[in-house]
Amino acid sequence: MGLIGYPVGHSVSPAMHNAAFAEAGLDWCYIPLPVAPERPEQIGEAVRGLRALGMRGCNVTVPHKQAVMPHLDRLSRAAQAIGAVNTIIVQEDGTLLGDNTDAPGFVRDLRSHGIALTNRRVIVLGAGGSARAIVYGLAQAGAEAIMIANRTIGKAEQLADEMQPLFADCAISAHALPDDLMSLSIQADLIVNCTSVGMSPHADAMPWDEAVSFRPDQLLYDLVYNPPETRLAQKAIADGAQAFNGLGMLIWQGVIAWELWTQKTAPEAVMSDAVFRAFGIDK
Ligand code: ATR
Repeated sequence: MGLIGYPVGHSVSPAMHNAAFAEAGLDWCYIPLPVAPERPEQIGEAVRGLRALGMRGCNVTVPHKQAVMPHLDRLSRAAQAIGAVNTIIVQEDGTLLGDNTDAPGFVRDLRSHGIALTNRRVIVLGAGGSARAIVYGLAQAGAEAIMIANRTIGKAEQLADEMQPLFADCAISAHALPDDLMSLSIQADLIVNCTSVGMSPHADAMPWDEAVSFRPDQLLYDLVYNPPETRLAQKAIADGAQAFNGLGMLIWQGVIAWELWTQKTAPEAVMSDAVFRAFGIDK
């Protein structure tokens, strides 16, 4: 097993998966697999190499989540709809299946905190790669309305137009960020930050208008986990709302991938301990 991406040296995925293999008594190993983006033909060579090397599969991260797709034999519905693969499974017959565990990872993390998504009205900040997975996950989990707010409104419109036909029971709309925030915020009970704003080293930035307050009944999920508490999360908490960072989603996308490869129940607590340890966080 391994992680195709670039760079991948900083990733906590090897620590997380190897801890789970050890716990399950499996003589398997997960390693970083850096594939430099300068020569795109190397992506195909790397993916086909999985089979040749006798690997069970791999994860895929930035910047190759789309580039691996043409080299796979089959795509799950989620990977197709999201337009990105983060997990490849080498099947018994040697064929390569591309899946996406980011969307279910996000949903399972919320569920693990006792938060259901049915009938929720959600603001998604951002319309890039991670927003695509989140919109799919939210709609699949039964959200009532998804309001995609993005700095470049054309990208929000395109994402809404692509996802709406797949989910008849969910109203998916596009809005301008930050202009529409005040009116959107009144309607929402969950806000998910899928922009990179607030990520280290720009931790003083916030994809939100300081003048728009959170309500105590609202929930913020910030996909950013470095820093563990973004300025946006600090504001939400100061306003009395509850806030989660993206570490849980990182753990759960790994748990789901591990289960796809091994067909066993993953030792989730061991995996999350390994991730928290890697970040030096006391749980
Ligand atoms: P990812 O894979 O992490 O989603 P991405 O596809 O590059 O990364 O998307 C980044 C998102 O963050 C986009 O929605 C982007 O907005 P634009 O579409 O307008 O570029 C958003 N973003 C990045 N920097 C931003 C900023 N300074 N202010 C507002 N939004 C920003």
